[in-house]
Amino acid sequence: QTLTMEVSQIMKGGYTHFMEKEIFEQAETIAQTMQGRVKITPLSPMKYAVPGIDPYLMPRVRMGGLVDHVSTIRRSRRLMFIACGTSYHAAMACRQTVEELTEIPVVLELASDLLDRRCPIFRDDTCVFVSQSGETADTFRALEYAKACGALCVGVTNTVGSAIARNTHCGIHINAGAEIGVASTKAYTSQIVAITMMSLVLSEDAISKRQRRDEIIDSLCNLPDLVRRTLKLNDQIKQLAADLKDEQSCLMFGRGRNYATAMEAALKVKEVSYMHSEGINAGEMKHGPLALVDDKLPIVVVSTMDTMHSKMAGVIQQLMARNGRLIVIANEEDDEMVDIVNGKYPIVQVPRVDDALQPVVNIIPLQLLSYHLTCLRGYNVDQPRNLAKSVTVT
Ligand code: G6P
Repeated sequence: QTLTMEVSQIMKGGYTHFMEKEIFEQAETIAQTMQGRVKITPLSPMKYAVPGIDPYLMPRVRMGGLVDHVSTIRRSRRLMFIACGTSYHAAMACRQTVEELTEIPVVLELASDLLDRRCPIFRDDTCVFVSQSGETADTFRALEYAKACGALCVGVTNTVGSAIARNTHCGIHINAGAEIGVASTKAYTSQIVAITMMSLVLSEDAISKRQRRDEIIDSLCNLPDLVRRTLKLNDQIKQLAADLKDEQSCLMFGRGRNYATAMEAALKVKEVSYMHSEGINAGEMKHGPLALVDDKLPIVVVSTMDTMHSKMAGVIQQLMARNGRLIVIANEEDDEMVDIVNGKYPIVQVPRVDDALQPVVNIIPLQLLSYHLTCLRGYNVDQPRNLAKSVTVT
């Protein structure tokens, strides 16, 4: 007897949708991004000491695709990250880490907006083009423009041989494997890991950054396990999605690195579930968004234990004082947040990781939320209406 199965069914490997598969793959895809590039064993000077060689000079992160250009990038007067959609949010999530480790000014540009403005780019700028497909027309046009301006162009892509990979001077493949669902999930987390590794390579010589670099590298090594643990929140998130499925709108609040989490979560929710959603920088709350708060509009607040923690606790208290309907994303060990919320609202508790990587963990419950919302609302999660995986027109 023959078994009839669609190729796409086989590719989904037991999952119902590609988006679901790609969300659940993330512990492995993140590990692939690091494979052969990050020394897993934490650096122990005693263990690795070689007479006459400073053990700290043995690099723990290597990126073959950047090696020949590292010194030029380090001398740049500005790093510009240029991207669209989810890839832009990945650059947002890493901005503070890149600034902190390299001490080079970092700007973020939406490719279309950069082209609209014919933004000035100089020969001593480094432009980093972040693109899952490597084929997005806006990003590619921006690359041609930056090249004509004489900047060094670096690609961060998931597609070997893509237009952006071929036309940049050097780059990084994120190695997340083919992403099929139109909504980008595993590419986002791998892009954050790849850009973080790039900033570690760029700061390799900085003695003042040694300790900070080691903390981030140790956290990279633990990240796949923490992502696996975060995915266990799936049942709780499914329940939350059931509570929210008939809403017309929801807000996502975040601050610092997790402003990117809020923006990316809002993009996920709107692109697949067709529910209106807006990512809001909690630092701007009192300059407008506060007027929207009532006891009906759901507000997801990303409030993990990074440097924004006490400010976000204040944001939650202000939202509670106005009877806001909250869903709080907090860390597992955050008893203070549990006390503040006091059983009034659902709390999703995610594992704690270094601030630089917390956005990787934080986006996972929100990817799951957009996935379940879409299934419950009865839409096609892998091919949302009017959208394309790779937008090859400007
Ligand atoms: C499209 C996709 C998005 C993606 C964006 C940028 O709009 O639907 O998911 O984030 O393009 O794509 P890229 O391949 O350049 O990362």
